[in-house]
Amino acid sequence: MVDRQLKNLQHPRFARFYTAISTRAEAHGGAEHRARLLKGLAGTVIEVGAGNGLNFAHYPPHVTRVLAVEPDDTLRALARRAAQRAPVPVEVVSGHADALPAPDGAFDTAVISLVLCTVANPVHALAEIRRVLRPDGQLRFYEHVRSDKLLLALLQDLIAPLWARLAGGCRPNHDTAAVIAANGFTISSCQRFGFSPCSAVPRFAHILGVAYPTSGDRRAA
Ligand SMILES: C[S@@+](CC[C@H](N)C(=O)[O-])C[C@H]1O[C@@H](n2cnc3c(N)ncnc32)[C@H](O)[C@@H]1O
Repeated sequence: MVDRQLKNLQHPRFARFYTAISTRAEAHGGAEHRARLLKGLAGTVIEVGAGNGLNFAHYPPHVTRVLAVEPDDTLRALARRAAQRAPVPVEVVSGHADALPAPDGAFDTAVISLVLCTVANPVHALAEIRRVLRPDGQLRFYEHVRSDKLLLALLQDLIAPLWARLAGGCRPNHDTAAVIAANGFTISSCQRFGFSPCSAVPRFAHILGVAYPTSGDRRAA
């Protein structure tokens, strides 16, 4: 079952394209967003859909272990290389959000960046993230989302089917904050901003923030 899902999550052409564009985005402001996403973290972290590992360089020194889960073979190979250069211990494993390879309550923090737009079943993924988080753990998220400008949002709706085919299943019009808030998490901070990964691409709405399991204790971000 898991193996068939992993097979469906192989997108080598998109992986190569994403690697090129995401690396350019780092110099365009992406690196600063990733640093903000991970700022102040300590203890154990699970990163879901780690891609080519661009977050790894930004983990603060008090992080003791990162388990980075990545289903795509091409991206996972790049993530393994990035893990070797990371300032904290990062283990990169095969897996996906529907069945995270970790026991219940094992992590202080879960990190998702530019992932919930692509995960086929975000409701199930968030339930899995909750399962592996400690009750007082936190979710750090950084995602591109549906625009709050009507015309742009309609344009995103229009291009969504083609976009999904070209971009490994990504939904450009996903209202990710609403999905997080409706599925067992309370959002404690959420910044919204426009961001373009490189000068040839228009700015997309992004969100970056912190959420806590709704019934869990709160900690300061
Ligand atoms: C746009 S890339 C973002 C990669 C990385 N998180 C980053 O910030 O650069 C989307 C990632 O989500 C992963 N992904 C897609 N479906 C997934 C699933 N069901 N479970 C876990 N990861 C998934 C893809 O393999 C890819 O690495």
